[in-house]
Amino acid sequence: MALFSDRFIKADKPQSSKQHEKTAAATGPAVPPAEPAIEAFNADGRYTAPPAFKQVREELQKFLIDEVKSLAELGGIAQLRQRLEPIFNKGLADAHLVVSRTERAYLFDMLIADIFGYGPIQPLLDRDDISEVMVNGPHQVYIEQKGKLILTHVKFIDDAQVLQVIERIVTPLGRRIDEASPMVDARLPDGSRVNAIIPPLSLGGPCLTIRKFRKDPLKIEDLIRFGSVTPEFAQFIKACVIAKLNIFVSGGTGSGKTTMLNVLSGFIPIDDRVVTIEDAAELQLQQPHVVRLEKRPANVEGKGEVTIRDLVVNSLRMRPDRIVIGEVRGGEALDMLQAMNTGHDGSLTTLHANTARESLNRIETLVLMSGVELPLRAIRQQIAAAVDMVIQIQRLRDGSRRVVQCAEVLGMEGDMIVMQDLFVFEQTGIREDDKIIGALQSTGLRPRASEKIADAGITLPANLFEPKRRGENDEKPQNTRGR
Ligand SMILES: Nc1ncnc2c1ncn2[C@@H]1O[C@H](COP(=O)(O)OP(=O)(O)OP(=O)(O)O)[C@@H](O)[C@H]1O
Ligand SMILES: [Mg+2]
Repeated sequence: MALFSDRFIKADKPQSSKQHEKTAAATGPAVPPAEPAIEAFNADGRYTAPPAFKQVREELQKFLIDEVKSLAELGGIAQLRQRLEPIFNKGLADAHLVVSRTERAYLFDMLIADIFGYGPIQPLLDRDDISEVMVNGPHQVYIEQKGKLILTHVKFIDDAQVLQVIERIVTPLGRRIDEASPMVDARLPDGSRVNAIIPPLSLGGPCLTIRKFRKDPLKIEDLIRFGSVTPEFAQFIKACVIAKLNIFVSGGTGSGKTTMLNVLSGFIPIDDRVVTIEDAAELQLQQPHVVRLEKRPANVEGKGEVTIRDLVVNSLRMRPDRIVIGEVRGGEALDMLQAMNTGHDGSLTTLHANTARESLNRIETLVLMSGVELPLRAIRQQIAAAVDMVIQIQRLRDGSRRVVQCAEVLGMEGDMIVMQDLFVFEQTGIREDDKIIGALQSTGLRPRASEKIADAGITLPANLFEPKRRGENDEKPQNTRGR
């Protein structure tokens, strides 16, 4: 059950009475105002809380501290709301604030969310259909819904209120955020991933980005249903995981890399010992034999940091059958390649790149960051020997996330790594509602890995790699217009 009502999530501003659209004179405490004392919403829909609201809030907080020891004592949030409402109303009256019924409810919700939750964004966090919440300073809150970014009318009062929410998130984790350490990665108790960055680094006020944790992680059937992959590709990639190929998932920010990694990890046979290594544990493996490792940032004195690279090195001494690394973004790339080339097959990871080819360049750059001096050719040889398959994903213009390319690494030719595309996304049209129509099509090339897959005892249907006729895999469009 959501703790708070969702009336101020709606992109529409809550209705204010006609009267409120007129600017009212500021009121002194002695003379009750004849006119409404606040202009709740500016012309652009921005909400400005009345200054006296702060005082009401403080009174409520004082009451809570004095009278209420715990939420349990009250029997839950509903009872708490019931008990607080009269005090809140009295507080408004004492402050001579005249507000409409809608505003009163709005302010009350805001206050409850402020005291017990994560402020004005709490209702957004409560909703399962919102996948990301992005606070860009106090007056701009975006959400991601169905793959699309939407600006909401949710506002914080000021920078201090955003900071307060950030502190509420990071303090229980023993982290802090202030001018000296103005960036922090954290997690909500439900596992949602949080990043906060504040001035002076962030110029427009404190920013907060929350990637909501899916209680019910996406499965391969979901990806097929969404059109992110085809059943044929799903069959192929499952075979690749079982046959212990080393697979890299490549894509831009928020393209669905971790989700794909999680799906791939789901194909790992249950008797394998899996070690996962992550920045912030997001993977949700269902197998029984999984050891989860998470990096540790330095403490306030700048000590005690354990990097992804340290964990990769350590994991090699843990007798892993599979190493799954959430994302390679530093020198650990070299250790990982070396692990893959020394008998740790079947490893899976993700990295940031825009095409399969670029992802190999990126690994090269990351290896150079490791500080170990290796000639470029030697690095490329290591990459070519270690990486078997690159799955490229992308968030398309219409908000859908799709596998757009699956390329196999074949080896070296001269100084170059040779790859071949096995599957590529083909767009065939755009629907009236701007949805992109198309599907992942086989290029007709047979993978070299077929042999390894056969050795693992898997027989793939012979026609899996036959190129489809144009549009054969597409969802059935109703109204289409040409590309
Ligand atoms: N195929 C998909 N179809 C629909 N939604 C998806 C798909 N894949 C991922 N998502 C959703 O997209 C959001 C981002 O996914 P994910 O965390 O996997 O991306 P990412 O590439 O790992 O992001 P980052 O670069 O920030 O680590 C999540 O809310 C996830 O549930
Ligand atoms: Mg990720």
